[in-house]
Amino acid sequence: MPSALDQLVAAQPSTAIILGSGLGAVAETFSPILTVPYSDVPGLPESKVPGHAGRFVLGVLPGSGRKVVIAQGRSHLYEGISAREVTAGVRFLAEQLGVKRLILTNAAGAIDPTFHVGGLMLITDHLNLLGVSPLTGGPHFHDMSVVYSLKLREAFMNAAEKLGLRLHHGVYAAVPGPQYETPAEIRMFRTLGAHAVGMSTVPEAIQARALGLEVAGISLLTNWAAGLAPATLHHSEVVEVGLAAGQDLARLLHAALA
Ligand code: HPA
Repeated sequence: MPSALDQLVAAQPSTAIILGSGLGAVAETFSPILTVPYSDVPGLPESKVPGHAGRFVLGVLPGSGRKVVIAQGRSHLYEGISAREVTAGVRFLAEQLGVKRLILTNAAGAIDPTFHVGGLMLITDHLNLLGVSPLTGGPHFHDMSVVYSLKLREAFMNAAEKLGLRLHHGVYAAVPGPQYETPAEIRMFRTLGAHAVGMSTVPEAIQARALGLEVAGISLLTNWAAGLAPATLHHSEVVEVGLAAGQDLARLLHAALA
């Protein structure tokens, strides 16, 4: 009997989805066939953040039967690991599983005041404010003019329209964390052209593009960024809003990938 990892490698799914904080339940909507804990994959760091399960789920896209691999949970720079380690999963997906298309999801704070909390934002571009890159050491000088595939963005926009789902668009600013931002930092990010802020996604997007993958990104706006609302920020709220809006994200993914 081949191991679950062997079966995952043999499946060679063309599409992968990485799920952010509190979004793990989205995997259940893809009729799971098998699961592989990250600890079974040599070279992958284990995810230690609450709301992140830390495993791959092989599933199928409802209605089409197309295989999809879902990463339930990811690593972050704030765990004290390098950008290279954070993106080990992306290299595994591309090099071992043969994935061609990567959908990155995350929880983010909304900076654009026209957005709504609990809503979704299609990432059109990013600001790498992390100070590091997974490509340090090579390959050097990779083009980043179009990180988030126009074709995939169109598919998500069409899907949202079909579902009657409001889909915001904007620039995702990645910060290292682990603390949330100050109101002054958020005002600066807004001036710099950011519409949402979070602590992930950008290293994976950079690594994926360097490997030639087609990339899309969706932020679930779990809260107003610091200073935009009177409330203070708590990770438990981020996970709660993620759980509540996960159904919208699942519907959008099903429709866009169909
Ligand atoms: N800031 C940074 N990361 C986040 C936020 C935020 O407001 N919400 C969810 N992830």
